[in-house]
Amino acid sequence: MAGRLYIPVRSSQLQYYIRVPLFFETAPGVYQLYKSPGMGISDVRIRQAMHPRLYIQQNDRMAAAAEVQKGFNREIARSIETGDVTSVKASLCSLVAETLAEPRAGMLQSLPQTMEVLVSGYSKQPGLLRMFATISNKDYSTVIHSVNVMALTLGYCFHSGVSLRETRRLGLSALLHDVGKSEIPSDILQAPRKLTDKEFEIMKAHPSIGSRIIKEINRLGEDIALGALEHHEKLDGSGYPKGMLNISFSGQIIGIIDCYEALTNEDRPYRRAMDPLETLNIIKSDVEAGKFDRTLFEKFCYSLL
Ligand SMILES: [Fe+2]
Ligand SMILES: [Fe+2]
Repeated sequence: MAGRLYIPVRSSQLQYYIRVPLFFETAPGVYQLYKSPGMGISDVRIRQAMHPRLYIQQNDRMAAAAEVQKGFNREIARSIETGDVTSVKASLCSLVAETLAEPRAGMLQSLPQTMEVLVSGYSKQPGLLRMFATISNKDYSTVIHSVNVMALTLGYCFHSGVSLRETRRLGLSALLHDVGKSEIPSDILQAPRKLTDKEFEIMKAHPSIGSRIIKEINRLGEDIALGALEHHEKLDGSGYPKGMLNISFSGQIIGIIDCYEALTNEDRPYRRAMDPLETLNIIKSDVEAGKFDRTLFEKFCYSLL
């Protein structure tokens, strides 16, 4: 069986592989079937790690991503039903971590279904949403930031009476707004200081990269890409990448929420995380300077109450 390409599977995902066959390496570059399609691996085996390092075949990559995502979706739906908001967030963070690690590997394509599960779950239990973005996270990262921005965006949508269809669309756009950071070098993303001008120039490419990645997935539609492309634009033209004056609705709302989320949650060595009121006051001065839309900002404030 040598010669074909095999990709290692994360052990945290093993439980989801039913239809996709798994393989193990018997000698360097030689792989043998571990489980056939249709079989699962028992929980005990997974929990006690009673298995060798497992692999999927390169050809099964898309099917594997779809199967893993379905598993995540089932778990998220179950946790919403039982009101276990911490588990919902943990599952969603793993899913987004996978997607951001390799946006083209297939996970991105099934995210609309995940959003459907979230929006329908939350419209039944809106109280959960409020807790979602405030659960503290030890390791603040693009993943957690993206999930928080999505939760705040869904909160805004439910509060402002946005249709469910539009809510799903905006939620997805918010979840993916920083997907372009997957192509920014991690020493820039994680720099424990303010970025140099040169580094900031590189960082400024993430909206265009993100929009390009999203557009490559034709199921997602061009409008989802707008949130990624325009979330750093400002109404007075001082934003990036284009310095445009006419910004889409999703670019504007995700832009405000992105600022709010980063300022309230991101503790950097050179800047502490701020409390919500302090943050809203900072954004308010940006509204007064003509950078953000006043009505949108006010609606967002009310959605936090
Ligand atoms: Fe961004
Ligand atoms: Fe962001």
